[in-house]
Amino acid sequence: MKKKIAVLPGDGIGPEVTKQAVKVLDAIAHRFGHEFEYKKGLVGAVAIEETGDPLPEETLDLCEKSDAILFGAIGDPKYDNDPSAKVRPEEGLLRLRKSLGLFANIRPVKTYQSLIDRSPLKKERIEGTDLVVYRELTGGIYFGEKGRSEDGETAYDHCTYSVEEIERVAELAFEAAQNRRKKLTLVDKANVLETSRLWRQTVQAKAANYPDVEVEYLFVDNAAMQIILRPNQFDVILTENMFGDIISDESSVITGSIGLLPSASIGEKTSLFEPIHGSFPQAAGKDIANPIAAILSAAMMLDHFGLKEEADLINSNIDFMVKKGLVTQDLDSHNFVTCSKVGDALSLLLDQTIAEVRFENMFEGKLPVI
Ligand code: IPM
Ligand code: MN
Repeated sequence: MKKKIAVLPGDGIGPEVTKQAVKVLDAIAHRFGHEFEYKKGLVGAVAIEETGDPLPEETLDLCEKSDAILFGAIGDPKYDNDPSAKVRPEEGLLRLRKSLGLFANIRPVKTYQSLIDRSPLKKERIEGTDLVVYRELTGGIYFGEKGRSEDGETAYDHCTYSVEEIERVAELAFEAAQNRRKKLTLVDKANVLETSRLWRQTVQAKAANYPDVEVEYLFVDNAAMQIILRPNQFDVILTENMFGDIISDESSVITGSIGLLPSASIGEKTSLFEPIHGSFPQAAGKDIANPIAAILSAAMMLDHFGLKEEADLINSNIDFMVKKGLVTQDLDSHNFVTCSKVGDALSLLLDQTIAEVRFENMFEGKLPVI
């Protein structure tokens, strides 16, 4: 298979984790005889530095012409600490999502049995967690009208949703539930917000088309509690943009590290694949970041291309590596390897010519040998 992939490394640890994902994609291409052509684009703070725009026209153009987008991370403390900044890196990602019509953000959360003790939550609570968040990505408070009063003393961010916006992401979530454990939980704040009442009404109406799916409704405050109290009660969680942002970060605590969670954003045009974590500027350039979320995002991309065997192979090899303890320091502060070693080891594992990889050597700072 031949595919054109736009690579948008972005800020902070984005470039280093994306590099590992590309390494792994190359190993897959080599093993299965695919041809992946990568083209890099600027986005975020690095794009502002070079062009003044967090999403240069050229980048958007590249994304539209590609079969998929591999995205790193976005954000820079320089802008976080300056509330009056005229342009912000995040704008680049938000405009990209909007321009490509990426209305559904899919964030799977799964525990690794071998990492069960890495989570700050009790083992018996989190064992067997396997849920997926369907987060609406191009509407709500993120994209509503925002502004300040003339005297600057009052600010507003409007939250708006239409039935159509709710329906299209709900359909994807219902379909996912049908292919999973057939349970869908709508997370909203329908006791307070009008937009949430529209979500509930729309999802209730849609539910009639999916009689095999059990539908449950939870207020977001209660959901935030339930997710860490008893995460394995969830199968598919459907929610609006802002609630989805918050509860997906919260869900990452279950797995032990936010560096493990990938995502796929799909919609009207080219799909985008990105880790859920941010740019982690403190770790940038140090080769210590966890690249698994980026690599799993690449696996989601392969799955999206219909390359299920290839995606499954990445997933099972990551399971294997994690079991072997070949992880970055966020998961093991004593025995850890670098970000690039995780990518190297995984590409070696994926290369069918390597019969045996000696992991012991990885801990001694050497490359694995046959
Ligand atoms: C995410 C991020 C983004 C969001 C930021 C960087 C704009 O936190 O993808 O979850 O809030 O959607
Ligand atoms: Mn987020």
